[in-house]
Parts: sequence; C-alpha cells; structure tokens
Amino acid sequence: MSRTRLPLVAALALVAGTSGTAFLAAPAGAAVASVPCTVDYKIQNQWDTGFTAAVTVTNNAAAKSSWSLKWSYAGSQRITSGWSAKITQSGTAVTAANETYNGTLAAGGSVSFGFNGSYSGTNSVPATFTLDGVTCNVDDGSGSGGGGGTGGGGGGGGGGTGGGGTGNRVANPYAGAKGYVNPEWSAHAAAEPGGSRIADQPTAVWLDRIAAINGVNGGMGLRAHLDEALKQKGSGELVVQLVIYDLPGRDCAALASNGELGPDDIDKYKSQYIDPIAAILADPKYAGLRIATVIEPDSLPNLVTNAGGTNSTTAACVTMKSNGNYEKGVSYALSKLGAVPNVYNYIDAGHHGWLGWDSNLGPAVQEFAKVATTNGASVNDVAGFIVNTANYSPTKEPNFKVTDTVNGQTVRQSKWVDWNQYVDEQSYAVALRDKLVAAGFDSGLGMLIDTSRNGWGGSARPTGPGPLTSVDDYVNGSRIDRRIHAGNWCNQSGAGLGERPTASPAAGIDAYVWVKPPGESDGASSAVANDEGKGFDRMCDPTYGGNVLNGNNPTGALANAPLAGHWFSAQFRQLMQNAYPPLP
Ligand code: GLC
Repeated sequence: MSRTRLPLVAALALVAGTSGTAFLAAPAGAAVASVPCTVDYKIQNQWDTGFTAAVTVTNNAAAKSSWSLKWSYAGSQRITSGWSAKITQSGTAVTAANETYNGTLAAGGSVSFGFNGSYSGTNSVPATFTLDGVTCNVDDGSGSGGGGGTGGGGGGGGGGTGGGGTGNRVANPYAGAKGYVNPEWSAHAAAEPGGSRIADQPTAVWLDRIAAINGVNGGMGLRAHLDEALKQKGSGELVVQLVIYDLPGRDCAALASNGELGPDDIDKYKSQYIDPIAAILADPKYAGLRIATVIEPDSLPNLVTNAGGTNSTTAACVTMKSNGNYEKGVSYALSKLGAVPNVYNYIDAGHHGWLGWDSNLGPAVQEFAKVATTNGASVNDVAGFIVNTANYSPTKEPNFKVTDTVNGQTVRQSKWVDWNQYVDEQSYAVALRDKLVAAGFDSGLGMLIDTSRNGWGGSARPTGPGPLTSVDDYVNGSRIDRRIHAGNWCNQSGAGLGERPTASPAAGIDAYVWVKPPGESDGASSAVANDEGKGFDRMCDPTYGGNVLNGNNPTGALANAPLAGHWFSAQFRQLMQNAYPPLP
C-alpha cells in the first residue's frame, strides 16, 4: 500500500491561503485505562411511540459498592418502567442507581439494566453519560504517558458510542465484545521470542485476493475463520474484523501492494470477490457474529490526492479515477455487505499525514459522501470510518499540539507539520467524524484507529516537549513519531506496537484496533518475483533517497523485508521492543 501525502501542493495552497481478547476491558498489563467508564446504550426495540433500551456500564476505575449513572435526553423521551436499576427522571435528566443486589461494581466489571420508554420525533441516544459524576466514554488522559496532552480526545459531545445505528445494528459493535483472534497470525506471533505476550490480541483477517475466500495454500478461508469465531464467541459477543482489499487496479499510487485484478476487472471484483464474500457473511449460521469490515484501504484517498493535478499524480490513479472502478467497487462492496444485518462497514480514510490538510480533507469528505450515496449504496451502509490503516501515525502526540506556538510562530509552519491541520490520528479522526456527519453520514458514525504499529516507544521516545529555540527544534524534540518524514510508510525503522485493541476509548471512536497484523511486511525491500501481482516499491528500499512525496528523504524502511503481507520476523521483534504502552 502507499500512504502518500501531499506536502508541496498542500503547503503552497495553504501558504497562499492523518481464545479472544476482550476489546472493552484492556487486557491485564496493557495500561490503556484512561477511559474511566464506558456505557453501551442500546435501543433494542423501537416502535412509533415507544422503545426498549438496554444499558451496560463498565467501570474502569476503582471498585465501587454503589453506583449512579446519569444522562440527559435531547428529545422527548420518558422512561415508563425499568429493571435491574432504580431509574428516576426529572425533565430530561435521568438517574439510574443500583438496586440493593447489584451495587458492587468491580474494577473492570460491568453491570446491565434496562427500561421501556415513550418518545415522539426522534429517539436519539444520549450524548454523554456520567458514572458517579465522572464522564464515561471519554479519554480523561490519565492513562497515557507524557505531559501536555494533545488536541486528541477533546472533540466535545461527540456522543460516545454514538447514536442509533442502522437497522438492528448496535451503536458500537466493539462495545462489550471480544475480538476474534486469528489463529494463523497468533501462531506466527507466539512462535517469536516473547510473542506470547500479544498472541491473544485480535487482528484483522485480510481478504487480499479471491483465493483468500477459500484459503490460500491450505490456509484458513473465510468460512474457517467464521467457524472459529463462533467457537471463540461462546455465549458472549464477538467482533470479527475483515479487510476487503482486492479492487481493480489496487494500490494505484504505489507498487508494493498491487493486486491481482487489472484496472478494468470491475465485473470480476463484483462477481468473484464481493458476491461470494457477501453470500458467506449472510449465512444464518453467522448471524450472531458482529462483522466489522474495513473497506478498501487507500483507494478513495488515492482518488483524492493522486489522480490528477498534483505533484503526486500517478498514471494508474488517473486511470482508476477516469474509469470509475474504485468508486463503483467501493459502492458495490458497501451495498452488498451492508445488506447483511450483522455487518458493520468502515471506509478507509487515510491518515492525518495524508488527508489532514483542509485542501485534501474537504474533497475527501465529498468523495466519501459521493461513493456512499451512488451505485446502490446509502449512508445506512456505513457504520464508520477507519484512519491510520497499516500506517505509523501516532494516536496522540503527547508533547505538542497543533495550536502551539514558539516565539510567536505556529508549529504548523515547522518542516514536520508542514501546514497540516492535525498532528495525530485521534484529533484527525474526531474532526473528520464531525465533517462526515455534516456531509450527511449518520450522526452515530464511529471511528476506528489502527494502532497496530503507531506506539513509538523505546529509547528514542521523547519524554517531554522539545526546546523553544525554534518551531523546528520544538516539534522535532517533542514528536514521538520518529519517522524521517511523515510520508514514509513502509516497514518503518523504530516503530513499536501501539495501544492494544480497546473499545470506546474516546467520544466518537468505536475502537482502537489492530488491522495491520503486526509482523506482516508492508513490502519487499528489493524486487521479488511473485504470483500475487505485487510490485517493488522503492519506498520499501532502505537505500533509496526518496522522491517528492517524502521530501526526497531516505525511506526509513527496514532492510531484508519480504513481500507485502509475508511474515517479517525482525520487524515483529522491533515492534515488541518499541511497544508503547510497553509490553510487560
Ligand atoms: C498488504 C498486502 C496484503 C496483506 C496485508 C496485511 O497490504 O498487500 O497482501 O494481506 O498487507 O498484511
């Protein structure tokens, strides 16, 4: 894949004017407990004047012997009867307090209650919940290291796990659910020294070619994964994460993840790839699984920045824009997969270092809205968006924020930030979410952040802000992202595992996820013959001096890397070494 950014054009434009491990409770030892409590408010049933709701509260703080959850309704909802909590309402304000028999709430423990209510107009999910006075579903910053904090979680009343969802879908499929552990990835991880520390983490299954549906070279196919997922699920809830990644003319701005389908193979994409996947997902046997799909990483962002009129234009992206096959393919995937009631589609939205300039983000939102409302797709087919898929951009830059100034100069004019509007993924995701909702997407939209490789721990990690001698000194001394240039994307030297998969880490964010399976290469560091359609991209070659897309800098790629998707032991070990939060 390519995660191409657009530094020069954007800068000029702006000068002139990106077994089962529970998602919910962070696994023991993984210090991501900065969300003090999470609330999953689910409308289970709704008719024209009434509804039934179920609420699950998870306490991530110290154990409690009694509890009280409060929220306010924006509309006319009136609670008429409840169970498993003492529920009172005064105007729009509701208080749900424990019954005598369920006041004990352990650290990491959950409690559920339910009620019936009446309403008229819209029955939206409350935006904010407090548990004993503490706001839930919002990162309070206490769990992340370093000072300062960034513009990250702030975002204001985004609505936690989000509103109504569509059809019978829950608002946030990750809330209260375990994540599917891919046994094949897990075995690779466990075979590495120390790998058992993370081998039980959920990672995505990449359906990166037609043959992957039935299994490549005797490996697990889609049904085998879903059957295994049913076993891991047991009687609880479980999310399976699938990456839909086989568009015609795939990876048009780079070479490392070129695919099997030619630019014109849209019919083959539909009939031999999406249709069989949709048919399997619709099997009633799998109706109890929550299936999160990541839709075609990099494709729509490539149409926005690399398909004409920029210094990053490629002929292949121009072709994919003019033949419309990325748009048709994504729309088709959204509508076919979105027709399966337990599928949650998340569209890939690049990362802040790619689309984070206003001049890119505006057109990107328009592109997403177009693709989600044409060729048979509708916004109801979209559960959310994912950022940082397989990239290395930090979730949060703890030591500086985009609004900082040094000697009266904005950090935006530093070489590193390069006039971007964002310096990290969480601030980007929250802002993008608002823009998407304003453009017509569901107000309950949930964002995902791929935190598989954006930890940037280890000895090179700054522990505080840089010197105030210049914007460049300050930013370079502050930033945990130790890449040579933010446009570098292949097998980055110095990277570490990021936050472990976690549900509802902040308002508007459905989950931190590991979509790129740590240890799988981004691309070969030299040309390797193969039958997967993959090319040789020099951004994966550590001896290459770069190009206009990365400011003609070295690539920062690790040497001796195998083909994209193949196991890269040295990279896996480095990711563990530099994990942040660190591994035990
Ligand atoms: C890359 C590869 C793909 C692989 C994926 C996950 O995008 O092209 O084959 O499945 O990474 O590692």
